[in-house]
Amino acid sequence: MHRKNRLPDPAATAALIAKRTPLRPGLGIVLGSGFGAIAKAVTGGREFPYRDLPGFPVGSVPGHAGRLIIGEWLGIPVAILAGRAHFYEGFDLAESTFPIRVLAALGVGTLLLTNASGGINAKFQVGDFMALTDHINFMGTNPLRGPEPAGLNRFVDLTAAYDPALKDELKAAAKSMKSPKVRCHEGVYLAVSGPSFETPAEIRAFRTLGADAVGMSTVPEAIVARQCGLKVAGLSCITNAAAGLGGKGQTVSHLDVLELARQREGVAADLVGKFVSRIG
Ligand code: HPA
Repeated sequence: MHRKNRLPDPAATAALIAKRTPLRPGLGIVLGSGFGAIAKAVTGGREFPYRDLPGFPVGSVPGHAGRLIIGEWLGIPVAILAGRAHFYEGFDLAESTFPIRVLAALGVGTLLLTNASGGINAKFQVGDFMALTDHINFMGTNPLRGPEPAGLNRFVDLTAAYDPALKDELKAAAKSMKSPKVRCHEGVYLAVSGPSFETPAEIRAFRTLGADAVGMSTVPEAIVARQCGLKVAGLSCITNAAAGLGGKGQTVSHLDVLELARQREGVAADLVGKFVSRIG
């Protein structure tokens, strides 16, 4: 039978936050690898370490436990989740997606999910971006598994999980930068559980299934956000060619992913800034 849900009421955590800041952002952004520079661009903000927020997952890596930042960016109030708890770290998906429920309870209506991913589509080059049109959940589980939250539907429709108008705004934001170094494609993101990278055979299979990029996050958050009625946009930074696609002798390494992500941080923040200005 069901394990008792040990997580607190997201509305209670949201109420604690709301008491400490007068800002009521309509937009939330989850920062994945390659998008960390956004946290530094937010001004006049209040920071809430995850460890101070009941129910928030506290990451296992010291110093990278994560924080919620509520502030203004380009004059627009935003709620930033800097630090995400991955399934591969051992969190279950209800735990790792709890912050999304808190953002919803705070009044966030639009959510941008960012990540680093491996490119499967042959047109993608390392350093490119991809606005998500759809996803394939290959994690083997679902964040809505378990008790149905009061007042919410567990049988969530995912026909248009990623808002098409927001996807177009991401592409338009990239275009407005007028730089040949900033290319934003669109495509399907396939999520695996990790933490091992994929085999070349898996990548060939995923390509056949219709995936353009592969990663280890985002999908659970998108599902929970849709259950809470948020509009969702997704943006990947393609940090590497997926396994077997990088040419002879090339392997996939976490260090290479992090290095490329770091190199693209400035551009990624500019792109998302343009997106925020357009929709704000
Ligand atoms: N596979 C899975 N997750 C990733 C990759 C990849 O190639 N690159 C960045 N995140």
